[in-house]
Amino acid sequence: MKSLGLSFPFMIAPMVGISHVAFRDLIRTYTPQGVDALRFTEMLSTRKLPSERLHSTRELKVSSGETHFVPQLLGNEESFIAPSVKKLMEISPWGFDINMGCPQSHVLRHNWGVRLMGDINYAADVVRMVKRHSPVPVSVKLRGGADKDLDLNYLKDFTSALESAGADWLTIHARPKAAKHEGPANWDIVGEVAAVRKIPVVANGDIQTAEDAIRIIKNYGCGGAMIARAATARPWIFWQIAEDLGIDAKPDGRESDRAPRTPKEEAQEFYRAFLRLIDLVEFYFAEGDGIEEYGLQKLRFYAATAARWFMFGHSFWRLTTKSKSFGEMRERISHYASTTEQEMIYRIS
Ligand SMILES: Cc1cc2nc3c(=O)[nH]c(=O)nc-3n(C[C@H](O)[C@H](O)[C@H](O)COP(=O)(O)O)c2cc1C
Repeated sequence: MKSLGLSFPFMIAPMVGISHVAFRDLIRTYTPQGVDALRFTEMLSTRKLPSERLHSTRELKVSSGETHFVPQLLGNEESFIAPSVKKLMEISPWGFDINMGCPQSHVLRHNWGVRLMGDINYAADVVRMVKRHSPVPVSVKLRGGADKDLDLNYLKDFTSALESAGADWLTIHARPKAAKHEGPANWDIVGEVAAVRKIPVVANGDIQTAEDAIRIIKNYGCGGAMIARAATARPWIFWQIAEDLGIDAKPDGRESDRAPRTPKEEAQEFYRAFLRLIDLVEFYFAEGDGIEEYGLQKLRFYAATAARWFMFGHSFWRLTTKSKSFGEMRERISHYASTTEQEMIYRIS
C-alpha cells in the first residue's frame, strides 16, 4: 500500500451494524499516534445515498477531523454512484471501496455485492463508473470464489479486469461465497493473485491476531491485511501490530503502557474498551427518538460478535441484552469486570 501513501498496510473491514463512527473512533483511540490505518464504513447503498443527509444519517456520521476512513459503496448504476460519490466527498474520505462480496439476498436481488463477480465486464464497468467521479483511490472488496469453491484462474481474470478498469487496490475475502464468514480462509490464494497484479492485493478472512496480520504480508506476499470480527474483541490490534513491527509510537494517553498481551490483560482491556464504546455510542448517536434503543442494539450486536473470543462470552453478552439503558449497561459491565475472572482466547476455530 506504499504506492498509495500508506506505510501501515493494516485495516479494519466494513461490517454492517458495527463499523459505525463510534467503533471507528474506538479503533482510533487504540491506534498509535502517527499510524495511519484505514477503517471502512459499513456498506452504503448508492440508491439511498443521494437523498440522505450527511450529518444526520447515522451510518454516514464521521467524527470531527476523522481521516483514513473508506466508505464502502453498494451499487451498479452511474446515475446513483455519481451523486453518492459527490456527496461523500464533502466529508473527505481517504478512498472509496466497491462491495463485490456481500452474499445477502437483498443485495443479490439488485445485482450488487458478490453478484457482480458473475459478470467480469460489468464489474469492470462499475469500477470505471466510480473512478470517473472519485478524486481519491478506488478499491474493490471481493470474494475468493463467487460460488461454492475458490477459483484461482477466475480470480486472476477477474482481478485483471478490475485492474485494467482503474482499481487502485483490491481486497480478497479468501473464502467462497457459500462459506459466508465461516471456516478457514485461504491466504495462499490471495498471495497468488497478488503475485500477478501490479496493484496492491490485501487479504481478508480469519485474521485474528497481530501475528496473523504480519504473517499475511511477510509469508504470503499480500499487500496488506484487513481484519473484521477479531477487531471487535481486540480493538487494540493495530497497537499490537505496531509494537511487533518495532514502531516507536503509542496511542494517545497510553504513552507509558504496552499493548495488552496475556489472556487476562486482554480481557481486562476489553471491559475498558466496551465501557468506552458505550460512551462513544451515546456521544455520536445522542439525538432523536428511540436513540437509546438504537445505541443499545448496536452495543448488543457488538458484544455478540466479540463474545466468541472470551471464555464466558455468552454471559457477558447476556448482560448487554438485559440492560435497558446506557447507564444500566455501564453498571452491569463494571460490576462484572470487578467480580469475574475472564480470559481472552488467542485464536478461535
Ligand atoms: C456483522 C458483519 C457485517 C459485515 N458487513 C460487511 C459489509 O458491509 N461489507 C463487506 O464487504 N463485508 C462485510 N462483512 C464481511 C467482513 O468485512 C469480512 O469480509 C468477513 O467477516 C471475513 O473477515 P473475518 O474472518 O476477519 O471476520 C461483514 C461481516 C460481518 C461479520
